[in-house]
Amino acid sequence: MLNSPAVSRSPALKIFAGSSHPALAKSIAAEAGVTLGRRKVTRFSNENIKVKIEENVRGCDVFVIQTSAAPLSDHIVELLILIDALKFASAARITAVLPYFPYARSDKKDEARISITARLMADLLETSGADRVLTMTLHAPQILGFFRRPADQLLATPILKRHFSRSSLSDTVVVATDAGAGKIAGHFAKRLHLPMAVIDKRRVDDSEKAVGTALIGDVQGKDAIIYDDEIATGGSIVEAARILRDFGARQVRVGVTHAVLSGQALDRLRGADLDELVVTDTIPVPEEKLRALPNLKVLSTAKPFADALVRIHGGQSVSAMMD
Ligand code: R5P
Repeated sequence: MLNSPAVSRSPALKIFAGSSHPALAKSIAAEAGVTLGRRKVTRFSNENIKVKIEENVRGCDVFVIQTSAAPLSDHIVELLILIDALKFASAARITAVLPYFPYARSDKKDEARISITARLMADLLETSGADRVLTMTLHAPQILGFFRRPADQLLATPILKRHFSRSSLSDTVVVATDAGAGKIAGHFAKRLHLPMAVIDKRRVDDSEKAVGTALIGDVQGKDAIIYDDEIATGGSIVEAARILRDFGARQVRVGVTHAVLSGQALDRLRGADLDELVVTDTIPVPEEKLRALPNLKVLSTAKPFADALVRIHGGQSVSAMMD
């Protein structure tokens, strides 16, 4: 007869962070009531990255936070190595927490001989040992299906709704920067019980200015909230603001999840006629960008991420958070 019966305990929750966004990782861990796991990332002279997990993770339910921020390729490789190290240190389950999903805009084969790189990212995560993914506001929700394991998407809608609801929203219209953004903007408009309008935007390529040609909906004498998944070079937002003013909008505010702010974004946004530019912290917004854009406000996503990972750990619904 066995004299030491097996003890059944639920696995401990542990959170580790890559190097891409230490402030957000720290806030998520604090909101979840745990301290960040100890790991050491070093670089050899040949630029190879080494990750050492400096505490026991055997049998643990581990979450790894890494966002898609510069230097992007380094952060992707670091994440894969971090997950691999955790897997071979016998973590029971690993969830990759990706506030801004890498290569989210490469989600379809809309030209010959190109890679659907968002799918490749999902394949790499799976190969490295990720059992699940948790992310926020995907450029296209079908990216969730690229990962052949469970994947959860949070939306920044509740955070942005809370912010914009602090002021009066009578005579306000939610505006999508193009037809593609119509669905996500529609979701936001519905939650705020507001009408919406859509800009007909055409783009030549990533470096070119997006050009708006027409507006479907009525903004004359109304306040507008432009709603989009991300600001990259700022072209879409600046053009949308110009069109809205042309069509007689009063106040023009912007609500966006991911503040990529790349290329000419700062110059463009500085020169744009915007009353407020509201983003979240899924990507770090450095001090110089905050200084350059005085009307920029950054909202924290730490609480929803912490709530979601605690729910995943406890086997509770994540989609219920969006209700
Ligand atoms: C486009 O499909 C996206 O929803 C955003 O509108 C786009 O990524 C913004 O890019 P940019 O700021 O460079 O116009």
